[in-house]
Amino acid sequence: MTDITWNDYAALPLEAKCQYLARPEGDGMPYHTLFAQQFDREILERLCALANRIRFINKSKEGALYLKSVLAHKRAMLYFSQPSSRTFLSHLAACQILGITTGSVRDAATSSEFKGESHEDSIRTFSSYFDMIIMRSPEKGLAEKMAWELSNSDRPIPILNAGSGKDQHPTQALLDIYTLMRSFEKNGGIDGKTVTFCGDLMRGRTVRSLSYLLTNFRNVRQVFVAPQELQVPADVVMVLAKKGVDFEVTDDLKAAVKTSDAVYMTRIQDEWDSAKGASAKIDNGRFKFGAEELALLKSDAIIMHPLPRRDEIATCCDNDPRAMYWRQMRNGMWIRAALIAATFGFEKTLMNCGY
Ligand code: CP
Repeated sequence: MTDITWNDYAALPLEAKCQYLARPEGDGMPYHTLFAQQFDREILERLCALANRIRFINKSKEGALYLKSVLAHKRAMLYFSQPSSRTFLSHLAACQILGITTGSVRDAATSSEFKGESHEDSIRTFSSYFDMIIMRSPEKGLAEKMAWELSNSDRPIPILNAGSGKDQHPTQALLDIYTLMRSFEKNGGIDGKTVTFCGDLMRGRTVRSLSYLLTNFRNVRQVFVAPQELQVPADVVMVLAKKGVDFEVTDDLKAAVKTSDAVYMTRIQDEWDSAKGASAKIDNGRFKFGAEELALLKSDAIIMHPLPRRDEIATCCDNDPRAMYWRQMRNGMWIRAALIAATFGFEKTLMNCGY
């Protein structure tokens, strides 16, 4: 990113930007993690293997203490200017597993941005004290702009995008892929599966990121079920069409459930409403997963949700073995630990250690 101006960089297609975001050591792992397009199948499989490895090492006290020593010399800043439970806590826990010391700002009103400091100056301030910034922002593209700023500063440090506007949530998509890989590891893997997305597909940034990551796998059919007002955005459809992915846009959840291997429910994202209460006027009664949908679901299929949920998955589904959303949430801690370790260049160390 140092040999290109922001305007020239920003004008590039996402695929062309990836070369500027990889670790300079050339191991294929990301330095900045900004969007799903940075991850191909090989990197996804390496990250999932590393997450499994960290999970295994952490099972014994000796292993857990070893993990805590691996990155004990690093500090990470969690800069969340949008609400979060899972993404914040799982990144925090991932840092703790690896021995990384953390600091946090969870509300811009408690930082000097409240006094008018720019995002650029805030980020440079954080980079003076920390070795990585994990950031969530309501602003589309802010993480990317900050990554470019830092790469061109005298103290470049990696940025992990923990959710940027309605745009991307790449680490959520990583944990979703990890969950799919683990769920289907004895059933042929992700290739050939049908994944149905349901709910607010227009404003759900997890949907855009996961839909893209799924294109790395062979013959994965994607089905989008939503009220017309909240259907999957045109940019996602264009990518799928260009890549020759088999996909369907529909409003019939029950029909989709019958043929799905994974049903990915999402909540109505009314925090993005342009007029207060606009989402409440949308009839979303047919876009909920309950006892009737559970009865139609294949015995080896799974139900996913990035969470938080409201009423789009009935609590009567929670104890069904196919309800994967609680395990999906915990998987986030392991894959984020893997991503952080790989970002700092510790993939081989952990894969080859004696634990
Ligand atoms: N899935 C997700 O991003 O959850 P949080 O908003 O709780 O972080």
